Amino acid sequence: MSKQSRKSNVAQMARAKDAGPDWPSSWETLDGGLRVGRYIDPKFLQLEFERLWPRVWQVAARVDEIPAVNDFTTYEIGDQAVFLVRVDEQTVKAYHNVCPHRGTALTEGSGTFEHGNIICPFHGWRWNTEGANQYVLAREEFHGGKLCDEDVALKSLRCEVFAGFVFINFDADCIPFADYIAPIRELLEDLNVAEMRHYWWKSIPIPANWKVAQEAFYETYHVPATHPQLETGAADFIYGETMEQEYADFTHHKVAYDTFEHGHGRFYAGANTPMQGKVSNMPTGADAVDAMAARLQLLVDGMDAQVLQADVDLLKTLRGKPIPEGSSLGAEYIRTLYEDAAAKQRPMPKPTPEILGMWGGEVMIFPNVMILPQAGNAMIYRVRPHATDPDRCTFEIYSTRSLPADAARERAEVIPVTDLEDPAQVYQIPRQDLGNLKRIQKGLHSRSIRQVWLASHHEKVIMAMHRELDRYLRQPAED
Ligand code: FES
Ligand SMILES: [Fe+2]
Repeated sequence: MSKQSRKSNVAQMARAKDAGPDWPSSWETLDGGLRVGRYIDPKFLQLEFERLWPRVWQVAARVDEIPAVNDFTTYEIGDQAVFLVRVDEQTVKAYHNVCPHRGTALTEGSGTFEHGNIICPFHGWRWNTEGANQYVLAREEFHGGKLCDEDVALKSLRCEVFAGFVFINFDADCIPFADYIAPIRELLEDLNVAEMRHYWWKSIPIPANWKVAQEAFYETYHVPATHPQLETGAADFIYGETMEQEYADFTHHKVAYDTFEHGHGRFYAGANTPMQGKVSNMPTGADAVDAMAARLQLLVDGMDAQVLQADVDLLKTLRGKPIPEGSSLGAEYIRTLYEDAAAKQRPMPKPTPEILGMWGGEVMIFPNVMILPQAGNAMIYRVRPHATDPDRCTFEIYSTRSLPADAARERAEVIPVTDLEDPAQVYQIPRQDLGNLKRIQKGLHSRSIRQVWLASHHEKVIMAMHRELDRYLRQPAED
């Protein structure tokens, strides 16, 4: 393609739609890309805080954060805060984090309300976990002694527990949760995400827009360049001198992507996953178990999530065992994993071809949560925007796994990461991903770039996410 025709493509994309006065052209979602204002404009961030976050279902916590009755945790999005409290085994409630007397935030972080008493630290007003006020000092002094119960009750908001997450919505008139989650309900149920328990959880401040951060995980197109150790053949092609590598050798080109209603999505490799015995660039004559174990060990060492050491150790028990006629190493490994889990009464994903094919893939829950399932474990990401700065966000990583029936359940507590570049704090694979983000955000501020390009296959879930985002942002707030 000549330089001239490249230039005209950019101009054509920029002219794609008449944006209108309230919607600058720098915010447009184009047919094959996105205008960069969506990532760098403080006004776009503000619009997200006016029209997306107050109306969208969002993950406020994992249930592991509040495992016992009266446990609470605080969730913040922009300048709004809520707290979640476990009322009983089955019920979690969400309240705006504010005292109706003079506005004090009732909680910070997480903890337990002793005897189920929620007490304001300023003047001691008190509530039960159902949100009903139990005590107001000198109540007769307020409003001529006519304060009604509703005046002094905590303000609750919509709250649903599903797949081990606590979802909330600030909007009383929002879409029913059942409709919002319907497109991915069965998938998350079959993956048994509800049974994934806390292993570790880290929170990382990132110098990039929240969408830039999450979109680094919305495709596998980046794997050969960003994680060369995971796809050595393709990386040799990208970074080496040879031009002879067949495009088909890019394992990650075999990944499929689906988009769903309400902005959700997924990608998956189906039968082409290393977990199922498909190890690229296996040396001729190498022991298949050792080659597969070495590949999985890269994930253990690089993430300590998704694939855990116990999974690799279990694989190694297959060394020297013959593969039965008609079976494969992958099939034998999966059989071993399920037999081991059954013996320990450890819940596992449903072993259907579709669900096994999701291992090593990802489910995206609109707008900001990603689940990366594998063999009875899952790595979960959540990204939250900074309250005022479009160039910053908070990225959280949850490593979760299902537990044997008799194992102790640990309460999830977040570990703050202070240095993204410290290998002891952030493992190699997420460090490679997150390390790109500062450079991306910096580049997006260049006056020479008007839009980013999105690949029609590999980057289609990113596009779908932005179209759903626009659906929220294009609807004016009612008040
Ligand atoms: S501000 Fe909470 S009791 Fe006064
Ligand atoms: Fe990555």
